[in-house]
Parts: sequence; C-alpha cells; structure tokens
Amino acid sequence: MGGQKIQAPKGVSEYVPPRSRLFDFVRECLIAPAKLAGYQLVELPVFEATELFIRGVGESTDVVSKEMYTFTDRGDRSITLRPEGTAGAMRAVIEHGLDRGQLPIKIWYSGQYFRAERPQAGRYRQFYQVGIEAIGLDDPAIDAEVIAIADAGFKAIGLKKYHLELTSLGDAPSRARHRIDFLTYIATLDLDEATASRTGINPLRLFDDKRPEIKQAMVKAPLLMDYLSDTSRAHFDQVKVYLDSMGISYELNPRMVRGLDYYTGTTFEFVHDLLGAQSGIGGGGRYDGLMKELGGQELSGIGFGLGVDRALLAAEAEGVISKQAFVSDLFIIPLGHGAMVMALAIATKLRMSGKIVDIAFGDRSLKGSMKAADKSGARNVIVLGDAEITSHSMEVKNMSTGVSTSVTIDSLNDAL
Ligand code: HAM
Repeated sequence: MGGQKIQAPKGVSEYVPPRSRLFDFVRECLIAPAKLAGYQLVELPVFEATELFIRGVGESTDVVSKEMYTFTDRGDRSITLRPEGTAGAMRAVIEHGLDRGQLPIKIWYSGQYFRAERPQAGRYRQFYQVGIEAIGLDDPAIDAEVIAIADAGFKAIGLKKYHLELTSLGDAPSRARHRIDFLTYIATLDLDEATASRTGINPLRLFDDKRPEIKQAMVKAPLLMDYLSDTSRAHFDQVKVYLDSMGISYELNPRMVRGLDYYTGTTFEFVHDLLGAQSGIGGGGRYDGLMKELGGQELSGIGFGLGVDRALLAAEAEGVISKQAFVSDLFIIPLGHGAMVMALAIATKLRMSGKIVDIAFGDRSLKGSMKAADKSGARNVIVLGDAEITSHSMEVKNMSTGVSTSVTIDSLNDAL
C-alpha cells in the first residue's frame, strides 16, 4: 500500500550529498580555531526549561516573545527547544560547578537551534551554529581573542567579502545614565502599546526595530556609546588596540544592540556583503550579568555564535569552495570475487593513511563502473582483474588528465 510523501517541516535547513560535504567543511573550519585556542567541547540538550530563556535571553526580545518552540511535556513542565546556546551553556557551567575551577572557563559547542521565524533565504526555523563562551575574565584581551577566533573561522573557509561591526553596550552605570536621557527622548515619540511595553523592559530594543517610522524616529536618539563610564570606555578602547595589533579591521556601529537582552560591553557582529537581508554570519559579545541572573555567582563572560548555514551560503556566494575539492582520491573497480578481496584490502590500507577511497560494489559491467567512477568525481581510478591480482601491479588512471600510470600495490599510496 502506498502512502503520500511526507515532507520536512517548513523552514528547516537540511543537508544531503553532495552539498553536505561543503556544510561539513564549513562547520569544521568554524570549529577548528576554537579548538586551537584551547576551548573545550560541551554537548548540551536541545531542549531546556522555558524559564531559562525567559530569564537568560530576555522577555523583550523577539526570540523569546515570538519565536520560541515551547511545549508542555508529559510531566506538565514547560520545555523550549533552544533558540540559542549561551543561556544553556551558562546553565551547564553553574550546574556542573565549572565556575569553581580555573578561570576563564573556555568552551565551544555546535548544533541545531530553533526559532519560529518567517523562513526565507538564510533564515530557518532550525539552523546550525558553532559557538564559544569564555567565562570568568574581565580582561579586554579575551574579548579580542574571541573576536579573532570567529574571524579565523571565516578566513579558514576562504571568505573575504565580510566585515566586522563593533560597539560597546556599556556596564550598568553607563546604561543607567543613558537610560535617563533615552527615556526622556522616547517619551516624545508616539509609540503603540506593544512597542511601549517592550521598551519598558529594555529601551535599547528600539534600536533593533526594523519599521521605517521607528528607524526614522531613532535617528536623533541618544547613543549609549556617548554615555560609557570611564571603566567601560577604557575596556572598549583596549579591545580596539588589541584588534588593531592583530590586524583585524572593524567598523564602529553605535546603533547595534543585537537581538538578545544579555549583552553588556563589547558587542560585535560579522556581516557578509553578498547575502542580502540575512547577512549576519555571526555575532556575540559580553554578558556580564547573565550568570548571576541565572542563579550563579557574579562572573563576566563573552562569546559568539556563528551561523553555519549562512557561512555556507556566503562561501557559495563568493565561490570560494567547490564540490570538486572534496571528491575521493581513488575509485576501485574490482572484476570478480578475487579482485574484491584485493580491493577491500587496498581500500582499508589507503583509508588508514587518510585517503578517500570508493569501491564499485555490486555486479556492474566495467562500462557501468567507469561511469559511476566518473560521476563520483574521483581523482583516480584503478581496475582490478586477474592480471592485476597475479602481478600485484595496476594502471592508475588520472581522471582529469586521462593519463594512466603503472604502479605496484606498495607504491599506490605515494602514486596517489
Ligand atoms: P545570534 O546573533 O542570535 O547570537 O545568532 C548567531 C548567528 O546565528 C547569527 O549571526 C546567524 O548567522 C545565525 N542565525 C541566527 N538565527 C538564524 C536563523 N533563523 N537561520 C539561520 N541562521 C541564524 C546568538 O545566538 C548568541 N547566543 C551568540 C553569543 C554567544 N553571544 C554570546 N555568546
């Protein structure tokens, strides 16, 4: 009995061959710099108590107020699919007492995140991030390191057409001073009730409002950057000095507030120049009050989340990675059972030395197997028959030049 085909839920990103190879490559490029800098893996649940995100990410944000996948589980608990990684990471740090060990705690993670947004190119309801968090250090040097790690990931992919936007959202005294003037300013605006109520929770949200009339109204709004306390200003200046000395260029964007409420101090976003509306390929910043808010001790933190899906789109838009770069090194065509024994042995050995090796399985004709080899994009092909079994030597055909070379089994690895 046949049934109707079932499709993936709307707006999820998923990757199947051949594009999944590129996805894998991009994700590994983004993770590698974090590992090289001594960050350690955390594997955390994709669902958490809803309360975690309400308190951690903030009720005034779109992420919490409109985009969470929240449900009641069988034990009547309110559960939410994680919309981001920082709140869960902090929860785990507190729960496992990592903050009682050596500081800073440096962790990385990678996985799926969920936001019920309106799907479009580069904006999905399930998407992938690679993230890091460095917790328990107030030093501007760690801010610079975190930014440099993100930048190294994008560079490893080969991306060039992106830029870094930077600002400081200040510490509590900076925010308090700014708030007075800012609230006075927005009292002159005619805000609808929903907007006014969000503004009551976090007035800075207005800088993130995409509606033209609000954007227009915000042109003359007082900027937090002009209210930084001496401590915040000195910290931010030092971050810039470190970035300059590492040769990482940035643009100051004093209107950037980002979509999550926990940010304080250094805040940044990597923006790709070819991606249109969904151009943020990664972002992050300090969240100095988050641990305390979640019931832990008062430790500062900074981190980033990089969008793997968008980094892949960016790489494709720039044309910096091609499927060709990831095809196999060798495709073996065995003719008969004796040849299959030899093929399996050769493949196993070559794979141990890091070569990508494919075998033609099944009872295909030589012609059919050659076609399969061609389609697979393998760089080299060998055919194993009785003669090769006896002589332990074979012809290696280079598929791009069409030239065949005779090699022995033992020299096959080098020949490839
Ligand atoms: P975020 O800016 O909300 O930050 O997300 C980080 C990145 O995830 C974005 O720059 C974007 O590339 C990608 N992203 C976000 N939403 C979507 C979506 N719907 N579809 C595709 N990609 C998306 C955070 O999540 C923070 N936790 C980052 C952080 C870590 N801050 C401090 N530590």
